Parts: sequence; C-alpha cells; structure tokens
Amino acid sequence: SEKGAPEDLLFSYKGILCPAAFCNQETLQVLDSFEARSDDVILAAYPKNGTNWLDQVLHDLEITAAKYTEEEINERINITNELSVFPLLEFGDPEKFKRMKELPFRRIIITHLPPQVLPKSIFKSKAKILLLVRSPKDTAVSYFHFHNNMPTLPPFGSWDEYFAAFMHGKMSRGSYFDYLVEWNKHMDDENVMAITYEELKENLMLGLKKIADFFGYFLSEGEIQTVAEKSSFKAMKEKSSKTHGTFGKILFRKGIIGDWKNYFSEAQNKEMDRKFEECLAGTKLGEKIKY
Ligand code: A3P
Repeated sequence: SEKGAPEDLLFSYKGILCPAAFCNQETLQVLDSFEARSDDVILAAYPKNGTNWLDQVLHDLEITAAKYTEEEINERINITNELSVFPLLEFGDPEKFKRMKELPFRRIIITHLPPQVLPKSIFKSKAKILLLVRSPKDTAVSYFHFHNNMPTLPPFGSWDEYFAAFMHGKMSRGSYFDYLVEWNKHMDDENVMAITYEELKENLMLGLKKIADFFGYFLSEGEIQTVAEKSSFKAMKEKSSKTHGTFGKILFRKGIIGDWKNYFSEAQNKEMDRKFEECLAGTKLGEKIKY
C-alpha cells in the first residue's frame, strides 16, 4: 500500500514520536489544560499491549455497574459521538478538552502517552490509572505487523530492520523500555495499578475482578463472567468489522502469548533480555512482566 515518507507520518512531541494521522500538534499544545476528574477511569498502555481489549472491558464494567438500560447505553454513545472526544486523550482537535468537560457520566480515558508528558491534573486529581503492560517480545512482534499494515505508520523492510528500531525506540510512540521506566516511577502511587496482558490471558475472571475492585465497580460473579465472555479474543475478532471497521482486521491479529518465538533469532532474544534487565530488572514492573 502507498504510504507517505516517515517524516510526514510521525512528529516529535516532547521527545515522543506521535502518529500525524491521529495526533495534532495544536491538541498536544493544549493537552496540559485538560482537567481530570477524581472519578475518571484512565487506561494507560504502550501500543499493542491490549488497549482495545481493555477499552471494551472498561466500558462493559462501567455500563454493567451503573445498571444502564439499553436506551441509556445508546444515549451515552450518542453524546460521546456528538462531542467527538474519543478514543484517545491525545487524539483529535484542540477544542476536545472543552467538550470533554461536558460529558455527563464517568469518563473512560485511554492514552499511550508516558506519565511525564501527561497533564499534571491526572496525577493531582487522584483519578485511578490502570497501567496495562505486555511482554516486550510479544509487543515487538505485534507492533511489527501493525507498523507494516497500518497505512498511517512507516513500514519496515524486514523483521531485523524493525527489531533494531524497536530496541532504540525509533518508532511511533518511542521506546517501549523508556515508557516502562517512566511508569515504574509511579508503581507506589496509590492511584496506579499495573496489570499484564499475560495475566489477563491466563485468568481473565481474576484479572477482571482486580480491575473492578480497583475502580470500585460492584459486580456479581455472573456479571463479570458476561463481560469476560464478550471480551474473549474470538468474540472480539468476530465483531471487529462492526466495532473497528477495516482497522479490525489489522488489530485483532493472533491474541496469544509467545508469538515472539516465531520471529526472534537467538541473538535478538539475548539482546532483548539484556536490555530488559538493564532497564527493569528488580523493579516492581520488571517483576510483573514475565515472558
Ligand atoms: P497480536 O498482534 O499479538 O495479536 P492494542 O489494542 O493495544 O493495539 O493491542 C493489540 C494486540 O492485542 C494484538 O496482539 C491483538 O490481537 C490483541 N488483542 C486484542 N483483543 C484481544 C483479546 N480480546 N484477547 C487477547 N488479545 C487481544
């Protein structure tokens, strides 16, 4: 497919490369004026860590806990569409932060930005932040396909070329490692909880219970079970053309743990282990991420 030159597809915001198709320089300039609310539900994740998965989960938990009727769900969707504020905090036009103030319900806010460039009000407000993390190896493989399949991102000629770029953070959203090093500084914040893609894959019910507890959603076992069933990879992939349009095919790729074994050479495996050790060994976040 035809793509623009890499320098047209990405631009730097405070040292982080952002996709020009979705992020707007002016929006980022006024991002600091965003006012968080203490009850905001915030999901932070590096790309390809399962953002869209948890996006659905969080909306379903919220809607179930708030006991919305079908009508209220539709109304919520209509208001959100009319105000055109979603999906990501850093996407859209600069007026969106004003419109976000008008949302008459608990807001679910998603971001790929690292904490040092997030609006200060997010941390001041004590809004709860769920940090979703995934093994660097599976993240790298997932992002390789995404870069090459998304018309809005610069492609890579080969896996090896891509691997080198990933190791040095020369890609959309910058370095995975820097991202986690920065978030690791917040692991003792009482309003931040980390959860891994892997633990959700291994025991989704348990993961969803942790998430529900964290955000203060009171749900029955049966209600959580329903949210879990709707958010299986199979269920989400089947509905993806409806929920995500043509983007769905690119997004719901394999949804498994360990696909990296089909891509990494022995040397790349060692290099990544070394880098991971250097950046995160012995830290709270480092201990959580297993692969
Ligand atoms: P793969 O490319 O390894 O398949 P994001 O939403 O942050 O862009 O992450 C996309 C990754 O999450 C993709 O990984 C995708 O398949 C996976 N994913 C999406 N929905 C999922 C689900 N319900 N269960 C498990 N993995 C899911």
